[in-house]
Amino acid sequence: MKTLIIIPTYNERQVLPQLLLALEASGVEADLLFVDDNSPDGSAELIADWQATKPFIHLLSRSGKLGLGSAYLAGFAWGLEHGYEALVQMDADLSHHPEYLPLMLAKLEEGGLVVGSRYTEGGGVENWPLSRQLVSRGGSLYARTILGLKTRDLTGGFNAWHHQALRNIDLAKIKSNGYSFQIEMKHQAQQTGAKVIEVPIIFRERASGQSKMSKRIFLEAMWRVWLMLLDSRRFRPMKKFIKFCLVGVIGLSIDLGSLVIMVEYLHWNLYAANLISFVLALTNNFYLNKYWTFRDQNAAILVQYVKFAIISLIGLGLNFLILYLLVDLAHLWYVYAKLIIAVVVAFWNFGANHWWTFKVQGVVENSASGSCKQSQ
Ligand code: GDD
Ligand code: MN
Repeated sequence: MKTLIIIPTYNERQVLPQLLLALEASGVEADLLFVDDNSPDGSAELIADWQATKPFIHLLSRSGKLGLGSAYLAGFAWGLEHGYEALVQMDADLSHHPEYLPLMLAKLEEGGLVVGSRYTEGGGVENWPLSRQLVSRGGSLYARTILGLKTRDLTGGFNAWHHQALRNIDLAKIKSNGYSFQIEMKHQAQQTGAKVIEVPIIFRERASGQSKMSKRIFLEAMWRVWLMLLDSRRFRPMKKFIKFCLVGVIGLSIDLGSLVIMVEYLHWNLYAANLISFVLALTNNFYLNKYWTFRDQNAAILVQYVKFAIISLIGLGLNFLILYLLVDLAHLWYVYAKLIIAVVVAFWNFGANHWWTFKVQGVVENSASGSCKQSQ
């Protein structure tokens, strides 16, 4: 596979010669792309010097410190444009040792994403202060739990991508600037059904220079994980359910409000009034759900209305049944009874409408296998 190793640099001049030696010693056949953010220590000048004699070295020089995430995005774009089939992410400071590359690239033959992992059997960290280990481990656990990801080393930056797995991801939508980029990319890998393999690595803390980790980068990762969740496939039905319930609350106000007016002020029969209030709420809910909750799940409006009405009629059956049970038999105040009814009927209505009335026609939701992905 035609391989590109992308290495973001910010003030890494000191360690770069050693890195180049280690890369050459690893025996991996790959081109290198350094993405430098105008490092004050002159990292870019050194790399440019190498270029004179080493045609496999490439350099993207950017105007200033624009962040790790955007450095990788620029690197990925360059690599995909130039037809590389394997794209590797790696830190410059030798924390990610090139000795692991042959195995990682061998595993990549099957496609997907290969993660150099500290938190899988055989992996680990050397010379990191406890505080930093806690941040890293805690960060991985935090993101894993919230996003429901299987990868163990979510924050790690030593990863090899098959170009197809990268092309399946909409890179224009990646928003992270800092180290949360690593989490966001792995989240996207799972979202797009890429196969993810973790290969154990020992991460050795840098011997020279300084980490660019900062409070700001840490905080960005904390809140960005939640934005990733809002955007994820996992959350989509939940988002709809929340909208459906909001519509339900509006419908319930109409239902209950009109019922109370008819019963208390007009002195109509409770059952007749209940039927009228039901129809008012039904019509309100149908339109709000059609044009808001399920607006992406479209079909002929008449068919939908009939289906919605059938489901609502069954809901109405439940409505009267529970009303009878609670008011006539259990002697509960009818207003309380209606609130209980609202909850029960909400679940029935949402399920039936989501999977029947507004069911997406002819589109198979992405499976997690990723074996038949199409390029975009
Ligand atoms: N171009 C560019 N721009 N490069 C950057 C920037 C930036 O804004 N910020 C950091 N880098 C480069 C560094 O020069 C280095 O090559 C690499 O990104 C990693 O930066 P470090 O500062 O050495 O990161 P770390 O050791 O604190 O963090 C490591 O662990 C994190 C948590 O697991 C890295 O592996 C991170 O990728 C990882 O998220
Ligand atoms: Mn480092």
